[in-house]
Amino acid sequence: MFKKIKPTVLIAHDLLASYVQPGAVAVDATVGNGHDTLFLAQLVGQAGRVYGFDIQEEAVKKTAELLAQNGFTDTVRLFQAGHENLLDYVTEPVDAIVFNLGYLPGGDRNIVTGADSTTKAVRDGLALLKPGGIASLIVYTGHPGGPEEKEALEAFMQTLNKNEFCAARLDFLNRKNAPYLIIIEKSLV
Ligand SMILES: C[S@@+](CC[C@H](N)C(=O)[O-])C[C@H]1O[C@@H](n2cnc3c(N)ncnc32)[C@H](O)[C@@H]1O
Repeated sequence: MFKKIKPTVLIAHDLLASYVQPGAVAVDATVGNGHDTLFLAQLVGQAGRVYGFDIQEEAVKKTAELLAQNGFTDTVRLFQAGHENLLDYVTEPVDAIVFNLGYLPGGDRNIVTGADSTTKAVRDGLALLKPGGIASLIVYTGHPGGPEEKEALEAFMQTLNKNEFCAARLDFLNRKNAPYLIIIEKSLV
């Protein structure tokens, strides 16, 4: 048990909690089983809004159930759609955008996020970010296509203007196969 260097998802949650205030607008680009969506809904509260995307009907259903159980149905707009099309659904500036890549835990491991679609979604998501906003990505490399997705994302991150975005990576040196975290903050000016 560690105080701050927790599992990657929880480190991302701690970071998001320090950026996302009640009333904020957030995007969960990969809702999966709905845990990150619920977390974002709790941060933005009833006055805020969360947009959630997943290509799998199963994921959207599970997420909708979890949100209903916790009283957040009205806070979240869920779409069974690829995040690469998020600009068709989200037209307002957002405070945070969250990706948890790879496959649906407990679901079909052949349905995974992909290098091209993820990179497009991140590019479009960053364009929607408000000044001072945050994007977080949890990246897995242990499944087929994972290393290629990582390479594409990191190549894209290196093209970001350093005056507009700060892109950083938190990787583990002694945790084998742990996912790692990319965070991108948009400058205030
Ligand atoms: C690791 S899971 C997400 C876990 C989730 N955030 C949670 O808290 O349970 C990755 C999800 O990405 C979804 N996915 C794959 N390709 C996608 C795409 N192009 N657009 C949106 N979601 C996608 C998968 O269906 C899967 O449910």
